[in-house]
Amino acid sequence: MSRLSLIVDLASLLAREVDFDTLLGTACERLARALRADRATIWIVDAEHGDLVTRVAVLPELPEGLRQPLVRGIAGHVALTGDVVRVDDASQDPRFDSSTDKVTGYTTRSMLVAPIREDAQAPVRGVVQLLNREDGAFDEEDEQYLVALATQLARALTLTTLRAADGGGPGLVLQSTFNKIVGRSAPIRAVYERIQLAAQTDATVLLRGETGTGKGLFARAIHVNSRRQARPFITVDCTTLPAQLVESELFGHERGAFTGADRRVPGKVELAEGGTLFIDEIGDLPPDIQGKFLRFLQERTFERVGGRQTLRADIRVVAATHRDLERAVAEGRFREDLYYRARVVEIELPPLRARGADEIESLARHFADVYATRYGRPTPRFEPAALVAIRAHAWPGNVRELEHWIESAIALAPDGRVTASHLPRRGPELPTDSARRESAAAAPQRPVVAEPTAEHAITIPLGLPLEEAVRLYVDATVKDCDGNKTEAARSLGVGRNTIGRALRR
Ligand SMILES: Nc1ncnc2c1ncn2[C@@H]1O[C@H](COP(=O)(O)OP(=O)(O)OP(=O)(O)O)[C@@H](O)[C@H]1O
Ligand SMILES: [Mg+2]
Repeated sequence: MSRLSLIVDLASLLAREVDFDTLLGTACERLARALRADRATIWIVDAEHGDLVTRVAVLPELPEGLRQPLVRGIAGHVALTGDVVRVDDASQDPRFDSSTDKVTGYTTRSMLVAPIREDAQAPVRGVVQLLNREDGAFDEEDEQYLVALATQLARALTLTTLRAADGGGPGLVLQSTFNKIVGRSAPIRAVYERIQLAAQTDATVLLRGETGTGKGLFARAIHVNSRRQARPFITVDCTTLPAQLVESELFGHERGAFTGADRRVPGKVELAEGGTLFIDEIGDLPPDIQGKFLRFLQERTFERVGGRQTLRADIRVVAATHRDLERAVAEGRFREDLYYRARVVEIELPPLRARGADEIESLARHFADVYATRYGRPTPRFEPAALVAIRAHAWPGNVRELEHWIESAIALAPDGRVTASHLPRRGPELPTDSARRESAAAAPQRPVVAEPTAEHAITIPLGLPLEEAVRLYVDATVKDCDGNKTEAARSLGVGRNTIGRALRR
């Protein structure tokens, strides 16, 4: 395997978030092959115990979960100093520790060992070690290459939720059934259960839930828990595409299909072959494409734009929406037959407020760990008042809002201490997308009252398109400022241009 294809390969492995041990194992195997090393091992730093632990080793002699103190050997040296070490003859290097060779009966000659970390400032998370290059010694190029790959591995480590096992066992455990997913409350457990059942089948799944409840995350969870996990997971986001482009994005186009189509381009459906196609915000699928997509769901056949040939795809479809699809159907904006086809299995993701304060706290702690590692901050600590406030906050933007908030709290706290002063301030709130949706679902006729100040209030009816609601709100604010847009901009905390844009819409 060429070096370049290894990088691409590893990148796609990382993106697919397979089981972490499998990922490290595969990475080791391929590294050894690409760098023509006889053995490759990945050691992870267990800071709590001051040890290095092997997670995986292309070294049959080495028991998995082997530990050694951080201060021992060349791997230990690299973990402590962050240096890259390249030696031609290990037995001549005073840092070399021969005790592992004695246990395994293996003879180490050349070595190339690099730290696993995101950049020179970031903490060292582990060490990747190659032994005995086939034809003698590792060179400069091997070294640069290994450092680049170790950086990628570091990112993967940061992205996953690996952490020391509670019982202090030999290793690190995934926090929950699914990589990167936190939550033990009853409503979220019910979701896990449905996800797992759905994953075993090829049934089309419709994920529903307010913004920021994890629809994207769970779509991926379905994929990685399905028999298609080794194949691609491909997303089509219906909100970001201009309507004219959706068909070609989905099904591809032939050369000359339209102006500018100078070559044949495969669609996402083709790219997802064998895997999972994730249609994000299916409620926004343009009306003229809905029929074609319905046919695709029913028969798994399609034509490229400008093409005559009927093609067939073997993929599973997962769709998501935060919209009130029933209403869209009633109003004729969404085809009823597509609605039934898309929701063979429907999974509703609960909003954060339904998951309980404990879950909010564990998510907060989870994100704090993630961002502290990412920003090189010390182990985060929450002041009691901050915790109380976090647990009590309404989090209208759900997990995403909580995540962003924790990220900025960590970024602003060099000592890792999260205080109540970091909490989002409750200023005048626009009727947010989610708030609108949420109350729309609960009580469709109830108006939302936005209160810029105690004495001046306006009533914005529910169910308006967000832009229209924003326009009304901005307009009212400008009037309240006697038509002074600069002052209105200041009171809303935005620039004057934003005011102008909102009013023009
Ligand atoms: N249970 C969870 N555990 C850990 N992280 C989560 C969880 N749920 C959501 N997140 C994180 O919260 C953020 C928002 O999730 P995601 O993008 O999947 O939401 P969404 O429902 O697709 O939102 P939208 O409708 O706005 O697209 C992501 O960064 C995601 O990783
Ligand atoms: Mg999403």
